[in-house]
Amino acid sequence: MSKSKSLVHVSLGERSYDVHVGEGVLDRAGKLIAGASKARVAAVVTNPRIGKLYAERVVESLRGAGITAHVITIPAGERYKALSTVRRVYEKLLDHRIDRTGMVIGLGGGVVGDLAGFVAATYLRGIDFVQMPTSLLAQVDASVGGKVGVDLPRGKNLIGAFYQPQIVLADTGTLHTLPKAQFRSGLAEVIKHGIILDSEYYAYLERNLPAIMRLESESLRHVVERSIELKAGVVTQDERESGLRAILNFGHTVGHAIESLTGYRGLLHGEAVTIGMVTAALIAQEMGRADELLARRIRDLLIRVGLPYRPPEDIRPEAVIEAMKLDKKVAHGKLRFVLVKEIGSAFVSEDVTPELILRALKEQEKMKP
Ligand SMILES: NC(=O)c1ccc[n+]([C@@H]2O[C@H](COP(=O)([O-])OP(=O)(O)OC[C@H]3O[C@@H](n4cnc5c(N)ncnc54)[C@H](O)[C@@H]3O)[C@@H](O)[C@H]2O)c1
Ligand SMILES: [Zn+2]
Repeated sequence: MSKSKSLVHVSLGERSYDVHVGEGVLDRAGKLIAGASKARVAAVVTNPRIGKLYAERVVESLRGAGITAHVITIPAGERYKALSTVRRVYEKLLDHRIDRTGMVIGLGGGVVGDLAGFVAATYLRGIDFVQMPTSLLAQVDASVGGKVGVDLPRGKNLIGAFYQPQIVLADTGTLHTLPKAQFRSGLAEVIKHGIILDSEYYAYLERNLPAIMRLESESLRHVVERSIELKAGVVTQDERESGLRAILNFGHTVGHAIESLTGYRGLLHGEAVTIGMVTAALIAQEMGRADELLARRIRDLLIRVGLPYRPPEDIRPEAVIEAMKLDKKVAHGKLRFVLVKEIGSAFVSEDVTPELILRALKEQEKMKP
């Protein structure tokens, strides 16, 4: 295997699959997919912008491997990650006479991947599925682990399934056309992986940030590969989130509260999560469970990336607590809060009280660059 390409195996018994990472993987899609699925007819689900940039290359490559492909375009944006869109895709699959021997390929960011996966999981009770993530967030997070689904007006990701793909192709070359803000937002999850699971990886990110931000091929490949490895390591131990997988929610409890307060508009997901990661670090410090330099070390890296480390000024700490109490996952039963002892070592605590979170948020407000 050449230097710029790599492979991560996600080990889930008969649901195991490979993730291919590297620049140009897209052009090898046909061969790789033909080796992972018996399907010889495919529906490539994508959005207008990503379709225009990449669909033809994918269709060409599939054709070369004897796979006939139909492109199905859905509108861009989270609000189309909805059952109405799912239904329209089903109709298109029927129009193209895709039967149980066909497959669905999701070519795009997390919105496309989650929706395409849900379609694949449910159409004719389930057909083969391939993830081709094109955003950093989708490559390092959404495309691995088998969570697929759509939103309801009353909340995100309320409808869905666990449905593993046959293969994942993460072409880091596609990140060159990704809007910079989206790239930074994806880096939030990358940084999260380092903080909760791998101190060496975190140090690598600190050392190599300039190269990563310049989208240098080797650094990008390493980052996507290592993040997928780390996430896959968690998922293979806890496929359906009954325990360990919860640590991937680091930063997300406060992050979700902030997202809901900003109406999912003011901040990108990753930006809300990085604020929540610093809150969590400060909570661990308050509890005497973490070194007092932890939050500052995280803040320093976030500043270099251009990600926020404290809530926007118009959001009061008290409002964050109130929004958290409305969160379905938080509202009932004990609050299970993900904290870190030190970089690379996360744990779940049931001793985090609203008062403690409030104190951390007030501390965070006072943090300076
Ligand atoms: N299934 C999971 O485990 C999981 C995990 C995390 C997030 N998610 C879901 O993922 C979604 C967010 O994913 P996202 O951040 O990728 O958002 P997204 O899919 O909306 O993509 C972000 C934007 O970037 C554009 N884009 C994507 N790739 C591009 C490229 N290569 N070139 C140019 N433009 C490109 C998209 O068109 C879109 O406008 C949410 O719906 C979230 O719930 C799922
Ligand atoms: Zn996230």
